[in-house]
Amino acid sequence: MRETCNPSVRIRPAEKEDFHKIKELNKKTIWQEISDDAKSRISNFDELYEKLWPAFSQKQGNAFYVAEDSNGEVVGELWVGINKEDVSGLTEIAWIYDITVKMGCQGRGIGTLLMGKAVEHANAKGFKKMGLMVNAKNTKALKLYEKLGFQTRNLIMFKNV
Ligand SMILES: CC(C)(COP(=O)(O)OP(=O)(O)OC[C@H]1O[C@@H](n2cnc3c(N)ncnc32)[C@H](O)[C@@H]1OP(=O)(O)O)[C@@H](O)C(=O)NCCC(=O)NCCS
Repeated sequence: MRETCNPSVRIRPAEKEDFHKIKELNKKTIWQEISDDAKSRISNFDELYEKLWPAFSQKQGNAFYVAEDSNGEVVGELWVGINKEDVSGLTEIAWIYDITVKMGCQGRGIGTLLMGKAVEHANAKGFKKMGLMVNAKNTKALKLYEKLGFQTRNLIMFKNV
């Protein structure tokens, strides 16, 4: 069954109580899209999320936003923080760690709105550059980022050894 989407959405900072909604949103979207290989490394989504969340939410520089519809449903989330620009570790830049939009609400501009909020947040913190990491096969996300002016600089490669 196709999920419905309420078109009236606002972006606001996430509150502590949103944790559960963000987790459920990610479970229904990212979890559905990741490869079986990645899934085999993450056996229990809820457990992993609950273990990682305290560290993520408390880390200095991390900020979380949600896209909330007029019924109070969280249909999108954004996690923006800080990262090193390169291995020298000399320069810090703003970093998108996570962005998700509910399946039935994708393609309606919510991802673009969340990315706009990320830029606004970064500028308010004094950053003039932003980076992110994305799976090379994630066409939807790649298209969004390229449309917004992100350019590929590094590729990360993996191999079982
Ligand atoms: C990536 C994601 C956040 C985009 O959110 P969204 O709300 O659909 O984005 P928008 O509606 O603002 O679309 C912006 C652009 O993204 C691209 N895009 C969105 N949906 C697409 C699709 N189904 N196929 C191809 N490109 C798509 C298009 O370039 C689009 O611009 P256009 O409408 O002018 O063509 C969303 O697809 C998502 O949550 N994906 C699963 C989670 C994920 O992969 N997150 C990224 C982790 S790095």
